[in-house]
Amino acid sequence: MSADATLAHAAETTHRHHPAPLVSADDRGLQRKGRDLLFSLAAALRALQLYPLENQAVVNALAELDAACQAVLETEEEVVVRFVGDFFFVNDLRLRIDLASYATYGSVGRALARHRIGEISVYHGAERAEWTALLTLVNAEPDAEDPYNVFSERLGRTAVLHLSVGADRDSEPDPQDDDQRQLAKRTYAQTVAVAREAMTGLRMGRGVSLRPVKRAVQSIVDQVLTNETSLVGLTTLRDYDEYTFTHSVNVCIFSVALGKKLGFDKHQLYELGLGALLHDVGKVRMPVELINKAGPLTADEFTTLKEHPAEGLLSLFEMRGLNELPLRAMLIAYEHHMKIDLTGYPVSYRPRNPTLFSRIVAVADGFDAATTKRSYQAQPWPADRVLREMRDNTTRGFDPLVVKAFISMTGIYPVGSVVILDSFELAVVCAANPNPEALHQPMVKVIYDSLGIPVSPPRPLDLSEIDPASGKPRHAIIKTTDPERYGINVGDYFV
Ligand SMILES: [Fe+2]
Ligand SMILES: [Fe+2]
Repeated sequence: MSADATLAHAAETTHRHHPAPLVSADDRGLQRKGRDLLFSLAAALRALQLYPLENQAVVNALAELDAACQAVLETEEEVVVRFVGDFFFVNDLRLRIDLASYATYGSVGRALARHRIGEISVYHGAERAEWTALLTLVNAEPDAEDPYNVFSERLGRTAVLHLSVGADRDSEPDPQDDDQRQLAKRTYAQTVAVAREAMTGLRMGRGVSLRPVKRAVQSIVDQVLTNETSLVGLTTLRDYDEYTFTHSVNVCIFSVALGKKLGFDKHQLYELGLGALLHDVGKVRMPVELINKAGPLTADEFTTLKEHPAEGLLSLFEMRGLNELPLRAMLIAYEHHMKIDLTGYPVSYRPRNPTLFSRIVAVADGFDAATTKRSYQAQPWPADRVLREMRDNTTRGFDPLVVKAFISMTGIYPVGSVVILDSFELAVVCAANPNPEALHQPMVKVIYDSLGIPVSPPRPLDLSEIDPASGKPRHAIIKTTDPERYGINVGDYFV
């Protein structure tokens, strides 16, 4: 596919995304065994909360936990389960978590976080009685003053020999910050679920209600208004095998954030968000092979795909609660590929102006599609290159004012860009610089040092920080780079 066609097709092709794993080979089946272990840990904790020790549910849960540990210990010397932020590692292999199981894993993470426990190690010879003792302590109320040390003390008084715990490396997480992130993540996951439900329902010809969709959009609007960064940061989480739905949610978040930037009021943001979430709904009327095709489209296929805006209108007519669907939201589905010079599609035979709502969604859509990996042929573009292309190439047909607002919102290096610094360190952009004069100096997290050794935990760095000796910024970005080249999963640095 030519470079020029990339953006145009970008919004079109929908592919399953297979991110490069942080640790490439999983010869020992550790990924699956690790997930089993985490699941049985969650089940055992829950059983112990609900039932007395001798209850069959507890006995079964502990037997399963024991078996899961044994399975890992077949190939490993020991098992270290680590929790970093919301990520779970088993012996340094990061476990891939889909949305459906997020709640289960999260419950283990939260239970341990109360005691500021960051890891559990399991050695050969661990017995069920030891698990019972450890998990009972985990379920107990943590000490308010010094949770981790008190926990270790309590554990020290038991006969537990083959299990041990380690402290959370995040010394003092800001509880409020943590709440915001949790809330953002819940909103994101719920909206993906709602989008999936609605689109799958429409595809199956089931009656689909607009109500849950509207509720999801309302919570996105509320959160963008109160705390934009958390939610926008989540648009880099493309760890899910669900491009169609995460794309819709990302476009919704970007659009609402952009609308806020442009001074929309709450009600307008809601209409914008609703239309953005449903912008590609017409794709449910396209053959599923076409939507999931892993490669460039043929001319015929592209012609079919070009029907999705008109089909989108028809799909929206089928939704229950139609009279509550704002006209502007419907126009977004119809107009988002028209381009401002009307050279896009559907072809318009008379002069018209796509609404500002549609022009905003077009920018959000183009950006998300072009920066997401969609197939092995069309590599995603680095975000800064996409932004420049959207701004400088007028044949793309984006509204220049909207693009400008988008760039000032995201910075030149949007959240999620991977950059090389003049120190030859590798960093991930985690927030735009709040100062509009410093768009080229975002806040980053350094993830690899100049020798390519991972920095753990990643070191936050404000690129606008001035070195008092020279009067110049301490660090500058040399260039952006492709996270895949380094096996980096950008989403890891945002939660
Ligand atoms: Fe799209
Ligand atoms: Fe589209």
